[in-house]
Amino acid sequence: MRIVLVGPPGAGKGTQAAYLAKNLSIPHISTGDLFRANISQGTPLGKQAQEFMKAGELVPDEVTVGMAKDRMSQADAAEGFLLDGFPRNLDQAKALDEILAAQDITLDGVLDLEVPEDEVVKRIAGRRTCRSNSAHTYHVEYKKPKTDGVCDECGGELYQREDDREETVRKRLEVYHRETEPIIDYYRGQGLVVTISALGKVAEVTERAMAALDRQA
Ligand code: AP5
Ligand code: ZN
Repeated sequence: MRIVLVGPPGAGKGTQAAYLAKNLSIPHISTGDLFRANISQGTPLGKQAQEFMKAGELVPDEVTVGMAKDRMSQADAAEGFLLDGFPRNLDQAKALDEILAAQDITLDGVLDLEVPEDEVVKRIAGRRTCRSNSAHTYHVEYKKPKTDGVCDECGGELYQREDDREETVRKRLEVYHRETEPIIDYYRGQGLVVTISALGKVAEVTERAMAALDRQA
């Protein structure tokens, strides 16, 4: 299955993607996680992305599309993938269409996670992220680690992402409404969008998402 996950910052895309990718046996491809891994390794790509992320702005398409394309061409993505955080504007959506068309494949669905803004702010304010792997996320109230400040999965140190500061979150939300929301209509025109509420317990949202994707398949 080839799926795009879309939703505002803090909607729970990364959280859901981890479960959905496991259930569907497809890799979870998060451009945010790829950028953060490059930043922590000090690669040239990481250096290009760093300032944009810190400011809550989108990393330029020239950098992002190439990175996403490379990741999608890896062997584990041959049978399907779950894209989280890509595409993030109309130009990226069109670039993705071209990448897929060149391989004669198409998307199966676009899962749109709907969450009210006040909930998003609460989720981001309490989020703690693993320094060793930014796909490992926790929440001070909703998903506490067994040991304070330590990742259950890998023992890494938990910290608050620099772009999770309140003023940057506001910027990211603004960028989401302006740049990313239009791709939902773009995909709606292709009959691909399923919208679900991302409120409730993590497992309830996963169940809702699996049911929606089953209907879409
Ligand atoms: P990215 O890393 O993609 O961030 P984002 O889209 O802003 O999404 P988040 O990671 O903030 O949130 P999420 O929806 O994954 O929520 P999570 O599951 O963690 O992008 C970061 C930056 O990278 C961008 O600003 C941009 O600069 C750059 N970038 C990335 N992709 C790009 C692209 N394609 N083009 C250009 N630039 C790009 O959940 C949030 C919290 O809530 C967690 O603490 C979690 O434990 C908790 N939670 C989750 N579900 C629930 C629930 N059901 N109930 C209670 N708590 C919950
Ligand atoms: Zn970890």
